[in-house]
Amino acid sequence: MITESNIKIAPSIFAADFYSIGEAVGLIKRSGADGIHYDVMDNRFVPNISFGPKFIADVASKCGLPGDAHLMIDLARGIEPYLSLPVDLITIHIEAFGDISPDTRVREMLGSIRAAGKKAGISVKPATPADAVIPYLDNIDLVLVMSVEPGFSGQKFIPESLDKIRRLREMIGERKTSIQVDGGVSRDNYKLLLDAGADFLVIGSAFFNDKDPQGWMNTIKLKGIVQNL
Ligand code: DX5
Ligand code: ZN
Repeated sequence: MITESNIKIAPSIFAADFYSIGEAVGLIKRSGADGIHYDVMDNRFVPNISFGPKFIADVASKCGLPGDAHLMIDLARGIEPYLSLPVDLITIHIEAFGDISPDTRVREMLGSIRAAGKKAGISVKPATPADAVIPYLDNIDLVLVMSVEPGFSGQKFIPESLDKIRRLREMIGERKTSIQVDGGVSRDNYKLLLDAGADFLVIGSAFFNDKDPQGWMNTIKLKGIVQNL
């Protein structure tokens, strides 16, 4: 019997109170979430700054949980500082080189991530159509659907993201590619996201503000186990 849930959850540590980062990591561990989502912002690709490689290295190397780094940075400056981080997955934005990113640059970045022994993800902003990912489907492990404009936690979920997830699930077909959703995920919409075809939820403010994060995580994981039975 398969008892493992096919749904993954990673709280976004960017949404935590940085004064109490150790407590936030402890809460994530106790909650039964699968890992930590690290939002990297450079005030170029998005109008905000979060943290850089040192923060991720310090937390990820000691917390004992898998990590995924979501790079909301201008990739023209290179990806090197992130390739050696102790995370399992690195996600880049398809728009990181401008609205129409040169195909060769995107492939080069995905190649560098995989060559560093990590899974590679590609993210699409709300205005970018799902079909932009088609050329890369055989070179990625995950698609990240941004369901808010990248840059800030605590924004309202964009409902059109559901259609994008459905379309991606259709395009992915038999491939093992995961669909991660990030932005405004809450107790009110997580079922809709999973039913649309997402299998990896990033939860920021709704996780840290929840009265019973552990109970909520259990409920989500259970839904993934039932799907497997
Ligand atoms: C936004 C980040 C998100 C954010 C999610 O650019 O990518 O990971 O922290 O926070 P919530 O769930 O509050 O929207
Ligand atoms: Zn993110």
